[in-house]
Amino acid sequence: MVCGIIGITSSEDVLDKPLGVSLKEALKKLEYRGYDSVGFALIDKAGRLVVRKSKGMIDAVAAKVGFELFDGYTGIGHTRWATHGPPSDVNSHPHTDCSGKIAVAHNGIIENYMELKEALIDEGHTFISETDTEVIPHLIEEFEKKGFKPYEAFKKAVELLRGAYAIVAIDVNDPRKVFFARNTSPLVLGFGVKANFVASDAVAFLNFTRRVLALRDGEVGYITPEEVVVERLEFREGRPVWVAVDFTSRVKNIDWTVEMASKGGFKHFMLKEIHEQPYALASTIASAAESVDKLAKILTRVDRVLLAGAGTSYHAAYVAALLLRKYAGLWALPVVSSEAQWWLSTVKEGDVVLGISQSGETIDTLKAVREAKKRGALTVAVSNVIDSAIPRESDIAIYTKAGPEIGVAATKTFTTQVTLLGYLSLRTGVLNGFLSESEASEAFKSLRELPNLVRHAINTYEAKMASLAVEMKDRPNAYFLGRGLGLPLSMEGALKLKEIAYIHAEAYPAGESKHGPIALVEEGFPTIFTIVTADEGELIKSNVEEMRARGSLTIAVFPKNLEDIARLVKTPIKMPVVKDVAASALYIVPHQLLAYYTSVKKGLDPDKPRNLAKTVTVF
Ligand code: AGP
Repeated sequence: MVCGIIGITSSEDVLDKPLGVSLKEALKKLEYRGYDSVGFALIDKAGRLVVRKSKGMIDAVAAKVGFELFDGYTGIGHTRWATHGPPSDVNSHPHTDCSGKIAVAHNGIIENYMELKEALIDEGHTFISETDTEVIPHLIEEFEKKGFKPYEAFKKAVELLRGAYAIVAIDVNDPRKVFFARNTSPLVLGFGVKANFVASDAVAFLNFTRRVLALRDGEVGYITPEEVVVERLEFREGRPVWVAVDFTSRVKNIDWTVEMASKGGFKHFMLKEIHEQPYALASTIASAAESVDKLAKILTRVDRVLLAGAGTSYHAAYVAALLLRKYAGLWALPVVSSEAQWWLSTVKEGDVVLGISQSGETIDTLKAVREAKKRGALTVAVSNVIDSAIPRESDIAIYTKAGPEIGVAATKTFTTQVTLLGYLSLRTGVLNGFLSESEASEAFKSLRELPNLVRHAINTYEAKMASLAVEMKDRPNAYFLGRGLGLPLSMEGALKLKEIAYIHAEAYPAGESKHGPIALVEEGFPTIFTIVTADEGELIKSNVEEMRARGSLTIAVFPKNLEDIARLVKTPIKMPVVKDVAASALYIVPHQLLAYYTSVKKGLDPDKPRNLAKTVTVF
């Protein structure tokens, strides 16, 4: 899972506030990643290391430790999501060495920490936490004792680590530097004026700079207020040597704004992000026209397409596979990333594998892309984060333009993924001649209308879903049933309700419901149908009847012209009649709102569901 990391180094008083406050503000921006403890370390103006940390949420910890009381020019902060050792004050980061001069915050897992810890204990080091991270400051200390300068000692320590990590460290013996290292876990640098930043996500420092460098695996370095150094370990004549990385061409200006990364008057990020969908879709559609053509041309020549994704991105992959089949006549298969290896075993040159991931960092999806590449397939990333790991490692990258998504539950990234991939399906169908011109023009028109349709759907259904949430909030279970495109949308609806409202929600192909799941259905058991096309509606009628006959609370999201469905279900959610390529994004909106309001009515925080993190970088 992911923790949040920030490192700041500034000269003079450019931050305009105590460093402790800047660290706290950056950590607040990283809250969405999921955490149970908070801490920071800074070198104060007298050159002493100050560390304050505790189990709990940022505001509560801030009230306890007083971030505003501490100032300096170099500091690091951390939000921890427990892996090694339960959430506790002592297990919170940053961790320090025996002398209390070095502080380290870390995201990821150090696989060989036990053997390192034992060796350090033999050398006389004392450990106070149960974490894997604590070995790092002690290793640095050990190398300094052996005569290495702080940055050299940091690199020597990193050389010994195995596993996934993003690390930041500060050291009173070299007080203007924040050291960093990345392997698998995300880490980005921000280039400011008389101040530089390192963080797990650029949203942490957007109020200072939008000039960003996404670090790559194996990169290690440091920032000072004036300088950024990035190095990587290479083997020359069999010997490891650290060589400087020329990163100038990789520094990008990101078009995310501070407002995009703040709640802007909404109670939760999730609600704001649901409401942002019209803009996100309009930007994605506008950029799709330029970005997907090269890929569409390639797809006209390929044999098979596999689409890998996790969670919501898997549901987008499923929708896209159906659209690629329907509009471009392609053999396309969606696979859950963590299961991809069993499907990838016959992939070869001539095949295309899409890795779909809003964050671009999900390790299961990255692994699927790596495996596909090894087997000679062309790899394509579909991401919302420029230069993240999956786009970097893929042959081609296309991007949704959803802006930063902070809420743990994916909303605008799903609708933009589906739309971008729908657009790709249409373009491929046009280029390979599978799709007639008239059908293509009607379908493209529906995509152009989509932002307004989504805006209208939000306005129409927000209040209705809020009141339906009152009915849903005390139900322990729900089924989401669909056929065709309605199935992945049902899966997405169920995931939303499960992850933020903690209701046990299962999605099934509607036709499968009578092969087992129906055994649970009794008076008041909610079954929520999603119907995208008239064909699906025709087939699903008997399934609705079956549920009705058992007293189920039937709800359906469907095109408003399907009168039979309207008559059959208790709660009809009548949607505009629109081409399926657009309906695949539009018809999820009521589900998003239902999950959001059910969570809120249960008194939960939809932005920070328990046990979940926004980006999952562990297998
Ligand atoms: C979605 O609401 C979930 N939080 C989760 O399933 C997510 O979609 C999944 O972890 C994949 O993330 P990605 O798109 O960043 O790869």
